[in-house]
Amino acid sequence: MKIAMVGSGYVGLVSGACFADFGHEVVCIDKDQSKIDRLHDGVMPIYEPGLAELVASNVAAGRLSFTTSLAEGIDGADAIFIAVGTPSRRGDGHADLSYVYGVAKEIGEHLANDAVVVTKSTVPVGTGDEVERILQDSGTSHKFSVVSNPEFLREGAAIGDFKRPDRIVIGAEDEFGRDIMREVYRPLFLNESPILFTGRRTSELIKYAANAFLATKITFINEMADLCEKVGANVQDVSRGIGMDNRIGSKFLHAGPGYGGSCFPKDTLALLKTAEDFDSPTRIVEAVVKANDSRKRAMGRKVIDALGGAEAARGKKVALLGLTFKPNTDDMRDSPAIAVAQTLTDAGVEVAAYDPEGMELAKPLMPEVTMVDEPYAAIAGADAIAIVTEWDVFRALDLKRIKDLAKSPVLVDLRNIYRPDDVRALGFEYSSIGRT
Ligand code: UDX
Repeated sequence: MKIAMVGSGYVGLVSGACFADFGHEVVCIDKDQSKIDRLHDGVMPIYEPGLAELVASNVAAGRLSFTTSLAEGIDGADAIFIAVGTPSRRGDGHADLSYVYGVAKEIGEHLANDAVVVTKSTVPVGTGDEVERILQDSGTSHKFSVVSNPEFLREGAAIGDFKRPDRIVIGAEDEFGRDIMREVYRPLFLNESPILFTGRRTSELIKYAANAFLATKITFINEMADLCEKVGANVQDVSRGIGMDNRIGSKFLHAGPGYGGSCFPKDTLALLKTAEDFDSPTRIVEAVVKANDSRKRAMGRKVIDALGGAEAARGKKVALLGLTFKPNTDDMRDSPAIAVAQTLTDAGVEVAAYDPEGMELAKPLMPEVTMVDEPYAAIAGADAIAIVTEWDVFRALDLKRIKDLAKSPVLVDLRNIYRPDDVRALGFEYSSIGRT
């Protein structure tokens, strides 16, 4: 089976490499000449564990190639995936579909055989219908079917998520589309990964509903954490206590500084817009978006409180450990660390930060923060240390060394990676999320 992947960003590249690894012949296409040149040299445009090796082995096996030419890349393809970005449109939060529609138009102009056109990009309900109209308007004489196949990949775990998915969702309106997609995913089908066939609009909505639900789960436990702090309860035990109920489930109940990343913030906003357009309010999601936004700055204030309040904080120094929105990625999009740093510098606090992968991308987002190249350099002379992202390297810090290096042993653990009793026994003034 020949597959064309239009868009070699995060989703396109991971999906393309995994499809090639299943044995399909895959061409990844991207307009960005320098990105394609780097891929030819084996240099990945993003940080994702295992991706460089997967790409290299499939290129060596002759199953994976790269091009800037869409016409060349889609020639002979049974399935053409659209995996370009759908950023939040500036101003109104709507998903910007101009890249998706632009690619659909180009596919229509160059289609040289019958093919299934698959939207993998996260797109609002009805986008598939518009892609179909664009292809029809192109006047192509070839048979085509437009299918929705959303991705559910977590950054940092994307290859595992692709190869061992909880489910594959395929929204197709005809047998041609369903047949080709069954072939595309046959290797996973054989592994007994469930494939859910739905209508196209339903499939488009499943993606948004899944992300909005997960964002809701996180925000719910974050609010419970705040309540725990007030009433003297322990949020980790609350998570366990409710998560053991199969109807609730234990995952995505880690209280923290708020969700960030490339998907939840953008997709919750886009869902609100769709709901508004169709006059069908989603008040729960509205509340989630508001609560999560205000939480990020509240986390900055939590650090200020640990410094003794606004008056005392001015002129003090804080070490920020972790900047990316979660570990094992260099992605800074909507990371809580941005709001935490901003709140601190606005309050006249001096901030030194360290992150294993995110500092390059973080620099322009937090110009007032000093980036240092190892955690202890940030900690030296600090009046407080705040852990914002749960990278493994922060789980194994030498706490005795930290106590000597820091000016005051104040630790604010926004990811609950330490046990309060252990850290306090070493003489730290310790605060965390939803635990007293
Ligand atoms: C998410 C979805 O999981 C994935 O299915 C979708 O396709 C894209 O969006 P991703 O953004 O890579 O993936 O990261 P994820 O691991 O889901 O975490 C998102 C955010 O939620 C992070 O900021 C993380 O720290 C936060 N989070 C997650 C919590 O605060 N608590 C949790 O229990 C889980």
